[in-house]
Amino acid sequence: MNFHVLTLFPEMIEQGLGTSITGRAMQKGLVGLYAVNIRDYAANKHKKVDDYTYGGGAGMLMQAQPVYDACMAVQSGLDKPARVVYMTPQGTVFTQEKAKELAGEEDLIILCGHYEGIDERVLEEVVTDEISIGDYVLTGGELPAMVVIDTISRLIPGVLGNGVSADTDSFMNGLLEYPQYSRPEVWRDKPVPAILLSGDHAKVDRWRKEQSLKRTRERRPDLYEKYMQEHPDAEKYIK
Ligand code: ADE
Repeated sequence: MNFHVLTLFPEMIEQGLGTSITGRAMQKGLVGLYAVNIRDYAANKHKKVDDYTYGGGAGMLMQAQPVYDACMAVQSGLDKPARVVYMTPQGTVFTQEKAKELAGEEDLIILCGHYEGIDERVLEEVVTDEISIGDYVLTGGELPAMVVIDTISRLIPGVLGNGVSADTDSFMNGLLEYPQYSRPEVWRDKPVPAILLSGDHAKVDRWRKEQSLKRTRERRPDLYEKYMQEHPDAEKYIK
C-alpha cells in the first residue's frame, strides 16, 4: 500500500515514520511512503503558499492553487484516482473500523493543513474523506497523518513480525484487549492468574474473553453496549 502525504513539512513525516515497525515495513517494500512538499508546487517565485483570509480574522490560510497542483501531480501518476483524506478536527473521528476500511486501498493521498487551514474551494474539489483523530486541535495535520498511517500499516499482512497478528488487538473485535502477563510467575508478591499456567487452552480462551468483556464494560460502556447488542450470546462469558 502506498501513502502519498501532501505537506509543508515532509521531513516530519519521513522522520516520524522512518523508524521502528513502520520504517521496517517500508524497507521490506510492504508500505510505500511518499512525502510531497506542497511548497514545490507554489506558482510564484517566492514559493509562498499562504495568504490572509477574506473577511478578516487572525492567521493565514493555505492557498488553493499549490494544494490542487500537488494533489493532481500525485493523482496523475496513479493507475486509478486515489481517495484523498484531509486531516482536520472537523472530520469524522478515526476508528479501527475506518483503518480497516482504508487498509483495502492501493494508494491513499493524505492532505495535511497548517496555519488556520486550507481554502475551502480546493477541499471541495479534491477531498473524498475528512478525518479527525479526536476532539482536540493540533498545530497541523502531520501528527494526525502519522497516526492514521501507523494504524493502517500494522494491518497490512507481514508488517507485524512473524505470526503476530493484529486480530487480538483492542478494538479489532469491538472490545478492549484482556490483560497479559510474562515472566516471572510472581512479581512483588503478585502472581500471574493461575488459569494462564494451567495449559488448558479452552479455559484460557474463556478467561480472556471474560476479561475482555469485563474490562470493556468498566472502561468503555459505550463499546460494551454496542458489542452486547451485536453479540447477545456473549452474556454467557460474564458472571
Ligand atoms: N489537525 C488539527 N487538529 C486535528 C485533529 N484533531 N485531527 C486531525 N487533524 C487535525
